[in-house]
Amino acid sequence: MSSKHEILEKNVGLLALLMVFAVSIGGLTQIVPLFFQDVVNEPVTGMKPYTALQLEGRDIYIREGCVGCHSQMIRPFRAETERYGHYSVAGESVWDHPFLWGSKRTGPDLARVGGRYSDDWHRAHLYNPRNVVPESKMPAYPWLVESKLDGKDSAAKMGALRTLGVPYSDADISGAQAAVQGKSEMEALVAYLQVLGTSLKNKR
Ligand code: HEC
Repeated sequence: MSSKHEILEKNVGLLALLMVFAVSIGGLTQIVPLFFQDVVNEPVTGMKPYTALQLEGRDIYIREGCVGCHSQMIRPFRAETERYGHYSVAGESVWDHPFLWGSKRTGPDLARVGGRYSDDWHRAHLYNPRNVVPESKMPAYPWLVESKLDGKDSAAKMGALRTLGVPYSDADISGAQAAVQGKSEMEALVAYLQVLGTSLKNKR
């Protein structure tokens, strides 16, 4: 007995193609509308793009693999908002390329760590976490104090982000190298940590 379905069952290629089609309808109906919703496209009011120094700090955060132990995504659950503050909203990360939401929490979430500690605390902690948190398992990053930034790529990085929609002005870009040159990697990383989550926190 032959049926139309038999054609499908006997043609693996056709079957796979139609499976992909069927599954993609489900995906597309969920994903495509997000591209057109202001709530996920629009930055939080008053948010400023990272300064050149904060941006270098963010790259150090990526290089050192901090994202492997720290998320930057506060979920809308009471246990999280009481510990970390207001849950993360999409408008806070529209200018983050790539996102650093992470999924591993060996250490605490850092989405709103900005302003929670002093710069001195962060420097002591990153130099050796055991200085301030005796039971800490976090690795030490002492070399960040010695390594200095030359800033030769800062302008190009900001230019690349501008093509992705981050509103950097010509002045931001032309001043980028001077803003970071000679600063230590430690200063850059702390500058980045201190701005995390503040665009929403400051509004409330
Ligand atoms: C192996 C996992 C691991 C890695 C990698 C790691 N951390 Fe941590 N981090 C922890 C743990 C565990 C804690 C909690 C204990 C402490 O405060 O030291 C912590 C705490 C922190 C805190 C304090 C947060 C708070 O709210 O108290 C900051 C800030 C931080 N880490 C930043 C960083 C940065 C920046 C990097 C990358 C340079 C990094 N961590 C890499 C595990 C890690």
